[in-house]
Amino acid sequence: MMSGSPAESILFLLTRNAQKLAFPKKNMDCLLINGKCRLNGEVSVSGAKNACLPMFAAALLTDQKCVLKNVPDLSDVRFMAEILGQLGAQISNPSKGVWEIQAKNVSNIAPYELVRKMRASICLLGPMAARLKKASVSMPGGCVIGARPVDLHIKGLRALNCGIEIDKGYINVDARRIKGANIFLGGRYGSTVTGTANVVMAATLAAGVTTIENAACEPEITDLCKMLIKMGAQIEGAGSPTITVTGVDKLSGAEHSVLPDRIEAGTWLIAAFASRGKVLVKGAQKKHLGALIDVLEKAGCKISVKNATAMEVDAAEVHIRPIEATTLPYPGLPTDLQAQLCALMTQAHGLSIITERIYPERFMHVPELCRMGAEISREGASAIISGRGKLSGAPVMASDLRASAALVIAALAAEGQTRISRIYHLDRGYENIDLKLANLGADVERLKNSE
Ligand code: EPU
Repeated sequence: MMSGSPAESILFLLTRNAQKLAFPKKNMDCLLINGKCRLNGEVSVSGAKNACLPMFAAALLTDQKCVLKNVPDLSDVRFMAEILGQLGAQISNPSKGVWEIQAKNVSNIAPYELVRKMRASICLLGPMAARLKKASVSMPGGCVIGARPVDLHIKGLRALNCGIEIDKGYINVDARRIKGANIFLGGRYGSTVTGTANVVMAATLAAGVTTIENAACEPEITDLCKMLIKMGAQIEGAGSPTITVTGVDKLSGAEHSVLPDRIEAGTWLIAAFASRGKVLVKGAQKKHLGALIDVLEKAGCKISVKNATAMEVDAAEVHIRPIEATTLPYPGLPTDLQAQLCALMTQAHGLSIITERIYPERFMHVPELCRMGAEISREGASAIISGRGKLSGAPVMASDLRASAALVIAALAAEGQTRISRIYHLDRGYENIDLKLANLGADVERLKNSE
């Protein structure tokens, strides 16, 4: 631990408390879906999970109150709230979608028992270091979607003149001499989303100017920067590969409404198409979904843009065509929609090739889709899908968030009944998915604790 026995005793207390946390328990619910049912109607997209998680962490940058609105009701959000509460922040959820966070006195240690519950808690690193000057955050572990290193987060903080040591599974940061710098924040797979969030948040309170090159351009980063600017941060270039942050002495509280979840929106567009339905997706913003729209149109999908925040798929008379697609950092095709596209392409007639450039091992959905009759083989980081326009319902198991969404899409298109177990993965990132599906006319039932 970073500073001997006092820190060790705090860690002991935090760890002991963390073991008794009110973390949402993994439910053992299943989803039963009877397929061959066209989705029909309107669905509203919730706030973006991957924007609000770093925003919760950003609230640690100030001792004043931050209010977040349009926060989705998801298990990942409740995990993050629990973690901040354990660190000492006052946190409450006074009404649906609204969270108030005030971090007057917070611990500078985020122990393994808190962090291991959710990888995104790595976003605590930058704000804790910048605000508290010394911080220890447990290294997140492995992940089912592949190796998820944090070397770029560390590189970024080191460039900001932070001392960093990795000890006993912890990243210990000494940010007493934090100062602005020019940082190239790219690795083998391109930019890093939460790494960019961490470095931007740390730089808001660093002396001088920080320039991040190869910054992630994802809309979730732009939205985080909007919140930080409301808190008094000086940030330019958010949404572009070069972000400039001029450090300030102090940040204040702010109120911010989280942007709609483009991955949820994309999932509904794909689900509507796969089920040959007609669905108006409210909250689907064309400007954030360009790469997906391009791919879906190549596959034969008719998408009409109703306005800046709503799009409609009408797939009743459409033949789904095979595609070749590759995931890339934003504005490329999101990796978080790759599994759903694999499910969709089982409904085309012909050969599709979907290549994963962000997480080359992220194909956990493939064996489960094959259990439903899909013909998919793996060639390195590509899935080769021999679409036959047919799937049959089967018992399948969710393995991670987006793989679970793919199984839902496959189940909607399949003949017969599919039973998806371990849907706690789905509940991490899709608010009220069973209710939203039912409102669109799906034949769906959640079986509580049925495993
Ligand atoms: N990478 C490194 N070193 C690092 C960080 C990342 O090599 O220090 C690599 C990763 O291994 C990966 C690539 O860079 O190959 C991109 O990873 P990134 O850091 O951007 O991912 P992340 O920030 O950990 C976020 C989302 C993921 C989403 C990815 C990619 C959050 C909380 N998570 O993860 O969301 O897949 O960006 O867009 O924002 C999901 O929602 O299902 C999900 C996994």
